Amino acid sequence: MTTLEFRNVSKRYRVRGAAPMLALDDVSFTLRDRQTIALVGQSGSGKSTIAKILTQLETATSGEVLLDGVPIPRHGRGLRRYRQQLRMVFQDPFASLNPYHSIRYHLERPLQLDRVVPRGEVDAEVRRLLERVRLDPATVIDRRPHELSGGQRQRVAIARALASRPQLLVADEPVSMLDVSIRLGVLNLLADLQREEGLGVLYITHDLATARHFSDEIMVLHHGRVVEHGPADDVILRPQHEYTRDLRAASPDPEKHFADASARPFGDIA
Ligand SMILES: Nc1ncnc2c1ncn2[C@@H]1O[C@H](COP(=O)(O)OP(=O)(O)OP(=O)(O)O)[C@@H](O)[C@H]1O
Ligand SMILES: [Mg+2]
Repeated sequence: MTTLEFRNVSKRYRVRGAAPMLALDDVSFTLRDRQTIALVGQSGSGKSTIAKILTQLETATSGEVLLDGVPIPRHGRGLRRYRQQLRMVFQDPFASLNPYHSIRYHLERPLQLDRVVPRGEVDAEVRRLLERVRLDPATVIDRRPHELSGGQRQRVAIARALASRPQLLVADEPVSMLDVSIRLGVLNLLADLQREEGLGVLYITHDLATARHFSDEIMVLHHGRVVEHGPADDVILRPQHEYTRDLRAASPDPEKHFADASARPFGDIA
């Protein structure tokens, strides 16, 4: 069992010539493996700041991040282990993949760095990873990112995130740059992988309907504060906070489209 705890985290950005900006204000939550938490909130509410602190692109001004009860080490083996355990899928698969390197290279790197499999098995593991994200290895393995569609690129980014066999995944608006017609295929893939691998997923989105459908819990962020956090259905059907009600009113009716959460309303759109 893996437990990631964000404990009383605040983040103040210092911008030259301007007053410091409090992007996160005393945020706490716990993410466990086998669990999906959706993080919703309007633009600028602090969602990506949480992702950046989790992936150590930024450091918290105060508060702590703990993995299995232990603060994230600043260096050494503990830090390596944390980075192997928690991986990130970014919004823009074009920016996150290197245009000069093949798909094979993108997947080999984490396998080698984290010594996931013996050297002789790296090629087979790359192919297995591509199959895991429903890509045909023979077709894509020697291509470069610009030779793939947006949806295929995001599948490669997901395969790369899974390469180190993490327990936790942070997905920051993983489909918002993709064509509407393929978004649900990628989200269904993420949901399948989450179940199959028992991952804990922090799913950052503006979309309350998919937040409800794909998540166990929803956490609502407003001006850097968590204003609501609870079981997904409760937050959508019985929002307690005025801001959540406003968000709900502003999104396409999440209740109507996703009334039967056990069904797979999207089929398998590739
Ligand atoms: N490196 C930075 N320096 C200064 N301010 C920053 C920095 N990064 C983010 N901010 C500010 O912190 C606030 C929160 O930004 P953040 O990117 O976390 O929001 P978000 O909820 O992810 O928004 P979006 O939905 O638009 O992606 C914003 O006001 C933003 O301008
Ligand atoms: Mg963001």
